[in-house]
Amino acid sequence: MPGGAVLEGRGLHRFYRRGDVEIPALRDVSLAVAPGEMVAVVGPSGSGKSTLLAMLAGLDDPDGGSVWVAGERFSHRGPADQARLRGRLIGILTQASGLVEHLTVLGNVQLAASFRPPRATSPDPRSLLVDLGLGSRAHARPSTLSGGETARANLAVALAGGPLVLLADEPTAEVSRDEEADILALLRQVRPADGATVVVSHSATVAAAADRVVHMTDGILR
Ligand SMILES: Nc1ncnc2c1ncn2[C@@H]1O[C@H](COP(=O)(O)OP(=O)(O)O)[C@@H](O)[C@H]1O
Ligand SMILES: [Mg+2]
Repeated sequence: MPGGAVLEGRGLHRFYRRGDVEIPALRDVSLAVAPGEMVAVVGPSGSGKSTLLAMLAGLDDPDGGSVWVAGERFSHRGPADQARLRGRLIGILTQASGLVEHLTVLGNVQLAASFRPPRATSPDPRSLLVDLGLGSRAHARPSTLSGGETARANLAVALAGGPLVLLADEPTAEVSRDEEADILALLRQVRPADGATVVVSHSATVAAAADRVVHMTDGILR
């Protein structure tokens, strides 16, 4: 992979069909993320941000171009293979809470960590919660958490087991403006230290936490 990028989308195209209309959701999008780098993709609703993350997460294949993770081609290799690689390498954070209600916060982090083969840099679940200011909430049920605590618990689950890549889709959509900057600063602090982080958001606040900001408009990345 050129430049030793951890994560790379190369010339990505994705079209959706709605009746007779073809919607170009991604148009020749290329993005390479270096080890340790945190990139913010900022753009309005409908600009193609979630589509890009789905390609980078191997949840959907591009109609043109390719995705590379840790030197391996990640796109067009079949759902089972992609799921295996995703489980090993990629943490995904969405605005919807993925917490399991019958487990405590710590139980949720431990469950997520158990799916990932340990790496030297895998965080201990308890320390991860302490780093995220959730030390005192480790034994709480998800439904008793505040909005900000839920966002931080979701971040802990996404980072459980130490993924190489963190992909976040509007991670602060459900929190107040005051909490938004705090959560993004925390995300920056606990992100994969040697890996790639991509955060997409319609909110320009995310820019302050990132090493680099790129803009998405009508499926084009600049
Ligand atoms: N499954 C789908 N079927 C049809 N159109 C879609 C689908 N997913 C997304 N789109 C369209 O693709 C464009 C980009 O959507 P999306 O990636 O969700 O943007 P964003 O995350 O920036 O809001 C939009 O025009 C959206 O309506
Ligand atoms: Mg979206």
